[in-house]
Amino acid sequence: MIPVSLRTFRLPSVRFYATKLAQPTSVRIVEVGPRDGLQNEPKLLPTATKIELINALSETGLRVIEVTSFVSAKWVPQMGDNSEVFKGINKLSGISYPVLTPNLKGFQSAIAAGAEEVAVFGAASESFTKKNVNCTIAESLARFQDVMDAAKKEQVKVRGYVSTVVGCPYEGHIKPAAVIRVVDKLLEMGCYEISLGDTIGVGTPGSFSKMLREVTKIAPVNMLAVHCHDTYGQALPNILTALDFGIGVVDASVSGLGGCPYARGASGNAATEDVVYMLHGLGIDTGIDLQKLVNVGKFICEKLGRQSESKINRAMRQANPKVEC
Ligand code: HMG
Ligand code: MG
Repeated sequence: MIPVSLRTFRLPSVRFYATKLAQPTSVRIVEVGPRDGLQNEPKLLPTATKIELINALSETGLRVIEVTSFVSAKWVPQMGDNSEVFKGINKLSGISYPVLTPNLKGFQSAIAAGAEEVAVFGAASESFTKKNVNCTIAESLARFQDVMDAAKKEQVKVRGYVSTVVGCPYEGHIKPAAVIRVVDKLLEMGCYEISLGDTIGVGTPGSFSKMLREVTKIAPVNMLAVHCHDTYGQALPNILTALDFGIGVVDASVSGLGGCPYARGASGNAATEDVVYMLHGLGIDTGIDLQKLVNVGKFICEKLGRQSESKINRAMRQANPKVEC
């Protein structure tokens, strides 16, 4: 008798069924357009336009909007008006307005501006860390510990980013073990959530799922988020892969704006409109009004003088504006 092959248990349909069960029923989208989306813009956008953008995003049903970064204006000039932007926006109840803080100095400035939630940003790659924040991974973690200690005193929530989770612009492929080391440290420090960043958008569902399989062994899925840049057109498939792991927090940028000034060639994040369209199509609740979001995307793209990177935005403004399937 032929023994039952192991392959029987690996039929694609069986795996498909198993993964479908794990998808969340609702997803929290972290809108990073005003920060990640704008930080790479060479021409300084007026502070009033940034405020208008964030206020309009606040009306779409989004529950988290990353406002700005308290980094050095010499390094990222576009974020030089961080305090003015943060103080100028309408802060609606039920919405979090986190900001990026690389060190204690950034944290103190953020608190002085009124921030109630911050994010520290590390990376799995040594070379990227050096280019991005001018120190080693170990030194960056020591700075984050200072931020965490101060945040605890102020009762401020801290989110942690880990960049270059599958690939680095300077080192190439990044092993999951390098990601795990940083995720583990950030969780140990007390970050309430870790956002896994494919900074240059090179991941595929293949490399992304390998990384997620390892990371989910040491981190609970309800403490993980994904942050997928779309350089190679893989952001949506990678987000879908993360949903299949049960991850229910997705970073996205309105109209796909963005990139990282220290990751040359990296394009914008997954467009929020495209992510919302896909999630709604999967029956996953976001609380977001897609038409309102499309209008915000149109607004900011007009201000920046460019076409929306969101296919949904372009389609909904051209063909069948009311169709959502
Ligand atoms: P540094 O030059 O090594 O800092 O920069 P330093 O400690 O030697 O200080 C030098 C000067 O900077 C001093 O001023 C400090 O006061 C000042 P000076 O005495 O020369 O007048 N300084 C600051 N000023 C304002 N805010 C601060 C601050 N800290 C020191 N917080 C630093 C270190 C981290 C500041 C610098 O490297 C920096 O600002 N880097 C910017 C990094 C950045 O914003 N990158 C983009 C965001 S990360 C990202 O996009 C990835 C992500 O989206 C996820 C993904 O896609 O994977 C999150
Ligand atoms: Mg990013």
